[in-house]
Amino acid sequence: MYVQLLVVAILSVITAIYFDPALRAFFHFDSAPQKPRNRLFTSEELSLYNGESKPELYLAILGKVFDVSKSWNHYGPGQSYHFFTGRDGSRSFVTGKFDETEASDQVADLVPEELRSLNHWVRFYGKEYQRIGKLIGRYYREDGKLTQYGREVKKLMKTADEAQQDKDREKLKYPPCNIEFDPSKGSRVWCTNKSGGIERDWIGVPRQLYEPGSHNYRCACINLDRDSEMANLKQYEGCDSRSVTCLIKL
Ligand code: HEM
Repeated sequence: MYVQLLVVAILSVITAIYFDPALRAFFHFDSAPQKPRNRLFTSEELSLYNGESKPELYLAILGKVFDVSKSWNHYGPGQSYHFFTGRDGSRSFVTGKFDETEASDQVADLVPEELRSLNHWVRFYGKEYQRIGKLIGRYYREDGKLTQYGREVKKLMKTADEAQQDKDREKLKYPPCNIEFDPSKGSRVWCTNKSGGIERDWIGVPRQLYEPGSHNYRCACINLDRDSEMANLKQYEGCDSRSVTCLIKL
């Protein structure tokens, strides 16, 4: 008797899950089978996934392979970004040149800003698309480990990120001044409690802030109550040391 009741109960639960869409979703009955994330592709194999030789659209960036089939309108044959499919065209994410002759996965010579932009794309694909594997070649070895080149680029990207974080910290500490140029009078630099897009409870005074070991400088607002005058800070000529505005005559 109890066994019969148990069987009926189990069958009822299974039926409920099968016919109720919410329960089906909860138990992941409807989700498409996940593709393996760690398939290793040769460049010949990857080249087939361009929506023509094979119906799927795959692209690689820094050797990481993503399935972009869901965005046929961007990557399908004849669409604006079809160039990226079936290959690793990492460099073109920065140059914007989508041409066979420009197709390259070499990026180690890019400047830090460009590397950061490329990293932004890598993160974008990681977020928006399913990662399905790695491309054997410049970035990954046949055993799936990073190549020497891959490690080098990773390091360069880390350095580029750290340099940007330093810049962001410096910008918070020494916010940029407002600047206006009048051809008849010259330039005016001045500080407000919002200048440089940094909202703060102090205003500061304009100073020339020199890059270390360089003759280049930018105008920075210095909080004299907090920061003392330093070697890399210079007053504007003819401007009072506590004035929030300085005129730079032509
Ligand atoms: C370095 C230059 C550029 C690169 C590497 C680039 C790359 C891309 C990529 C890969 C996508 C597809 C993103 C996805 O998977 O959803 C995209 C989308 C798009 N791009 Fe570009 N692009 C560039 C420049 C431009 C420029 C100059 C314009 C406009 C004049 C533009 C307009 C668009 C638009 C409108 C979309 C569609 C956005 C959407 O539907 O969400 N792109 N771009």
